[in-house]
This record gives sequence, structure tokens and C-alpha cells, in this order.
Amino acid sequence: SLASTAAIDEFLGCLSADIPSRLIQTPATPSSYSALLLSTARNLRYILPDTSKPLGIIAATEHAHVQTTVRCGRRHGVRVRVRSGGHDYEGLSYASVHLHKHNEPFAVLDLATLRAIHVDPARAEAWVESGATLGELYYAVGAASRSLGFPAGSCPTVGIGGHLSGGGFGSLARKYGLSADNVLDALVVDADGRLMNRSSMGEDLFWAIRGGGGESFGVVLSWKVRLVPVPETVTVFSIVRSRNQSAIELITKWQEMAPVSPQELYLRVLVLNQQANFQALFLGRCGDLRRLMQDRFPELGMTEQNCREVSWVQSTVFFGFSATSIPLVQLLNRSSNPRYYLKVKSDHVQEPIPRDVWESIWTAWLEKPEAALLMLDPYGGLMSSISPSETPFPHRQGNLYQLQYYSFWYENGTAVAEKRMSWVRGLHKEMEPYVSKNPRAVYVNYRDLDLGTNELDGDVTSYEKARVSWGDKYFKGNFKRLAAVKTMVDPHDFFRNEQSIPPLPAAK
Ligand code: FDA
Repeated sequence: SLASTAAIDEFLGCLSADIPSRLIQTPATPSSYSALLLSTARNLRYILPDTSKPLGIIAATEHAHVQTTVRCGRRHGVRVRVRSGGHDYEGLSYASVHLHKHNEPFAVLDLATLRAIHVDPARAEAWVESGATLGELYYAVGAASRSLGFPAGSCPTVGIGGHLSGGGFGSLARKYGLSADNVLDALVVDADGRLMNRSSMGEDLFWAIRGGGGESFGVVLSWKVRLVPVPETVTVFSIVRSRNQSAIELITKWQEMAPVSPQELYLRVLVLNQQANFQALFLGRCGDLRRLMQDRFPELGMTEQNCREVSWVQSTVFFGFSATSIPLVQLLNRSSNPRYYLKVKSDHVQEPIPRDVWESIWTAWLEKPEAALLMLDPYGGLMSSISPSETPFPHRQGNLYQLQYYSFWYENGTAVAEKRMSWVRGLHKEMEPYVSKNPRAVYVNYRDLDLGTNELDGDVTSYEKARVSWGDKYFKGNFKRLAAVKTMVDPHDFFRNEQSIPPLPAAK
């Protein structure tokens, strides 16, 4: 149902009873409103003038502000979008293509200030609030201990809140799984504004928030995570090969070796500007890595000169900025990465793609000026031994690697955007025969609205439409259980967006 102007005023009035007015920005004060809106909006495609904007942004500084916002939103029919790091590929934490369609106003609940981190090195645990970034967590863990790490993604400005809600894949995944596999407890505000921890929320909701995707179940304020043992010295390398340095043969071979390597080795490939960059993290010393590479992948020609022996936290700088020489404090820079226009699609590869296919992709697609960055991220190791129903993230055994078509550009204008997006969509279409099928599976943190967006069935999101368009692809056999949890915790479907989990259809 539509919130009228009167309802919006009532909503804002309701907030102001508990939340200081300096923490609430509305378009009535354009400069502070847009500074806050843009503060972490990462994808320029979703801050164009014709994007629907929030009617207000609440910069919560206390847990009670979150509870108040949810309660006021419920009472006055204003939907709330939660934002932690703002890195959603489709801008779902701060923009809406869909609510716009239904002309539904929404507010943004910004958690960036709620970013406390408490590391307990003796217990190898930490509590981290959702507004913290991955870089801030890495820095805090590194400052507390040289022999502890945390498995999560490579970009330091990604927010904890969205990342852990959707899974969290990175350089320690083959050894320790996803971030979500290492969550021990959480504090959540539900659709009634109640604050709950693991024991009060129960195991079903606790299961759903560890990979079921952001927004659908409530607002996660804080996470208790398990820190994992890492050697005091680890090794990284980056080896770049062009086509006439056998890049295509090396990628072909990589597919057979990286997913079955020892768990201590994470070797990914980035293909950009017609060069393949092989980047490694090895949980051990250079000499052992060189022997391993000599044994498993001699064609790459890795030598001890390629090695950098560093602490684990310094390795996160290497993956974040593609250089080890950058000082650790850069991990704390919340705006360290430039913003760009972004469109990403992704796949799971289950059989090695033949060399001649790579040849023709390289010639027909990668040599075009509008080519995207391709990212090949290996699975295997522990990822293969975790059951697909252990968490909502179902992409476990049987997957060799993730393939991302990651297009980013800086130039404004629809012509450029269309060229870039049709490149991504075109290659994605062409890859269909070589990637996972029935469903063509996608990782929910690589949000892609091309898969389809929700429709309403009465007052709530249609289960069937969601299942067919994106539900099976993100969650396979776990989708129905996610919908059952949704029915239990948010039957009125307050927390929703273009691809939020629907409640189960009411029995007819
Ligand atoms: P954002 O704040 O945009 O939230 C994402 C979604 O979660 C939104 O729907 C939002 O409403 C919801 N949400 C946010 N906070 C919430 C909370 N506290 N409670 C409930 N719902 C909440 N992924 C990966 O696995 N490995 C990687 O290496 C990378 N690298 C990477 C690099 C770059 C440059 C980008 C832009 C993205 C990635 N990602 C990634 C994807 C990333 O994991 C994904 O976009 C996360 O959802 C981002 O989390 P944020 O909190 O930053 O996003």
C-alpha cells in the first residue's frame, strides 16, 4: 500500500521521538542529504538523476535507532532499505527500480557508524558490527595477532553487513569456507523491532541470515565470528601473462589444477586488458610454494623472485590493491576505491572449458575495447566438503570455480553504458553451454537483476515468480526453507526489495 505524504510526515515524526534530528537527512536539506546518500553508494548506475531516491536516510548510531526505524516504518507503511557498505552490485541498499515501479516510498537505514570491532585473540573470536568494512576487520585482527585471520572477500571497502548476509568468498575459502561458515552468533532486529541473539532467534533464522542474502529477514546489527589460524608468514605472488606468453594454455590448465590444489593454496586469475594475472595466496613459505607450483603447474614458470613473504593481514592489502607495498592503514580508508558504473554477471563452472573455446572467447570478446574484467575464483578444498544445506549458500561440491564478468567504466552516458552492458550480457549468453545448468547457478552476493525481479501476489511477494526467476539460481534446494523462515519471521513481507525472499504462499 502507498504511503501518502501525510504518512511520510508521520513516519518522520515517529523517528524524531527517539532519534536526534541531525541523524536524519531528507531532501529538504539537499547538500547534507546527498552527501550521506553518496557516502557509500558504490555503483554510479544507481545514483543517476532518474533513479528513485530515499525519502530519508537515518544514520543510526545506536541499536535503539534501528529498532525505532523499523517500528516507525511498520506503523506508517514506509519500507526500509538497510545499508552497511553500499557495495551491492545492483544498488539495492540505496536505490530502487522496483519500489519506484509501485511508487512505494522507502527510507535508507545507514549502518556505517555502527562499526565497532572487538577482537578476542585468546578465544580466536571477534564481535564485529555490520557497518565495519572488511578492511577494518582485517586490520583489527592483524593488530591483535599475527597468527589469526578471517575468511572474507578481497575488496577492503565491502561492508560486513551485506557480505556476511550473502556468504563472503575470498582467499581463505578453500581452507576455511565462507565468512558465513564462520559466524557463531549475531544480533538481529526483526520486523517487529525486537532485538535478538542466536539463542532468542532460534536456529532457523540463524541459518537464514548466514547466506540467504541481505534485507529479507531483518537488520543484522552485529556478528560474532570465528577467527582462523594462519601462519605468521604467508606468501603471495602475481604473475602476468599475455596471449603470446601462453595465457590461454595457462588458463586452460589452471582450471584442472587450482580447484584440486592443497587447501593452503588459493590461485585466482584476473583477465583484463588482454592479460591474465595469476594471483596466489599460499599459507606457507616461498620455498614450499615454489615446489608445489613446480609439481602442479610448472607451465606458469613461477620462481622465487615472484614471491613476497608477508603477514596474513599484508596479504589482504595485496588482494585489495594488487600491491604489497601499500601501508596497512590503507585498509582503514573507507573511500579508498574510486566509484564507477558497474554491471556484473557471473557463473559457476563445473567442467573445464576447452582450450579452443577460450581461444575464440579471447579473439571475439576479450580483444574488444569494451571488454570487462573476467575473474576466475577457485572452489574446492573445504568448500567441497561443506554440505549444500549447511547454510543457504548451495554452491559446494561439483563446482570448479566462479566466473565473474565484471564490467566497470568511468564515462557518463547511455551509449557507453549500453555498449558495456551488452558486452557482458552477450558473453554471458554465449557461455551458456560451458557453465552450470538447471539451474544456471549464481552466488547471491553477485546480485544480478537480469535474472528477474519480484512481483506482488496480493500484499506480499510472489513465491513462484521469485523461485523461477532468481530463487533456484541463487539458492537451489535451500530456497523453500528460506521462504519458510521468512513466513515465520516476517509474514507481512515488510523487509523486501527486488529480489528479497518471499513468504511461502498461503495454503489455498
Ligand atoms: P550493501 O550495504 O549494499 O548491502 C547489500 C545488501 O544487503 C542490500 O540488499 C542491503 O539492503 C542488505 N544489507 C546490508 N546490510 C545489512 C544488514 N546489516 N542486515 C541485513 N541486510 C543488510 N563478494 C565476495 O564474496 N567476495 C569478494 O571478494 C567481493 N568483492 C567485491 C568487490 C567490489 C568492488 C564489490 C562492489 C563487491 C564485491 N563483492 C564481493 C560483493 C559483496 O560481497 C556484496 O555486494 C555484499 O552484499 C556487499 O555488502 P555491503 O554491506 O557493502 O553492501
